[in-house]
Amino acid sequence: MTNSTSINLRCSECGKQYSLSEIVNLCQCGKPLLVEYDYALAMKSLTVESLKGRDQNMWKYREMLPVQNRKHVISLGEGGTELLAAQRTGVKLGLKNLLLKDESTNPTGSFKARGLSMAVSRAHELGLNKLIVPTAGNAGSALSAYGARASMEICVVMPSASDPVFITDCQAHGARVELIDGSIKDCGEYAAGLVASEDYFSVATLKEPYRIEGKKTMGYELAEQLGWTLPDVIIYPTGGGTGLIGMWKAFDELEQLGLIDSKRPRMVSVQSEGCAPIVKAFDEGKKEAELWPHPETAALGLRVPSAVGDFLILNAVRESNGTAISVSEQEIYKSTLDLASQEGIFAAPEAGATLAALKKLLASGFVAATDQVVLFLTGSGYKYLEFFRK
Ligand SMILES: Cc1ncc(COP(=O)(O)O)c(C=O)c1O
Ligand SMILES: [Zn+2]
Repeated sequence: MTNSTSINLRCSECGKQYSLSEIVNLCQCGKPLLVEYDYALAMKSLTVESLKGRDQNMWKYREMLPVQNRKHVISLGEGGTELLAAQRTGVKLGLKNLLLKDESTNPTGSFKARGLSMAVSRAHELGLNKLIVPTAGNAGSALSAYGARASMEICVVMPSASDPVFITDCQAHGARVELIDGSIKDCGEYAAGLVASEDYFSVATLKEPYRIEGKKTMGYELAEQLGWTLPDVIIYPTGGGTGLIGMWKAFDELEQLGLIDSKRPRMVSVQSEGCAPIVKAFDEGKKEAELWPHPETAALGLRVPSAVGDFLILNAVRESNGTAISVSEQEIYKSTLDLASQEGIFAAPEAGATLAALKKLLASGFVAATDQVVLFLTGSGYKYLEFFRK
């Protein structure tokens, strides 16, 4: 057993409850399902002390993860990433306490490993063996790798504009790769067709309940690394928003578990000016985002014109007194290079976007020099060589 204390799934919008043994995607009402836990039971073994002795990967929070039986865990050692002080960048920007959560060191080079390890593990537990994902690239790499490890048939549907390295990567892991002229939304529609005609199970962002459970471990780790406190500001590059929503869920869970107090970071959602539906909805005070008509950005993971969890992203940003901000392609490029040349981290452009946003937020006064700020460097730059060669 994994000691999981998960009890059921519940709809994030209408509250309808589902059993954990059901194979489901979205709720009947079309909104994402989230896993619920028995906190009283989890608190018995998930404690500050017990965590100290556990291996440094995301499975150390097993009581609050949905896999029931350890034998179904499909792992490559995801999570347990460093929280690094950004000394040089901090000094340059006049920030005393700037931290980088370096997700680029995850298996397959991005934080997508966390979500896909969890989704593949639960799929394995539920007896599924044909999975499909629409992806900008990194989620496809991760699904292909974990799928290979679990001996599953994997199909990855990717925009043809994605860097060819993602195609090579997925194919090397034995996945079937379908290329679509369009955005990830078009890929999603194509994938839905294959779900219907070829019996794949979709693990599209927030369209199944378990990827978010992997991503939320970034929030658990961050709190633990900061001695069970949270920073003043979290800056997160937002496509589908699973990481942001996941961390927001994690913070509530940690408070229920008695591990942190009620103080929350201001959550900042960063997008590219070439695809900023969340920023637009935030600025206009809307509950949900409108479809972004012509999404374009080199930060491929941010090229998401509509997100099924848009209302959850907007809720978290608003409840936290955070904000949503867009940055230009030039700003993304410059800041991605800053991370490499000043901090030694060759990160993905999505990660660079967080530093670009920080610069703007300091200029506007949203971030103060005394704030403790964490940038989420969600992926490695090695799969974006064309971007750096520009
Ligand atoms: C490197 C990177 N950063 C950020 C994102 C956006 O992540 P999310 O869908 O959790 O908003 C992606 C998604 O593809 C990504 O690959
Ligand atoms: Zn519902």
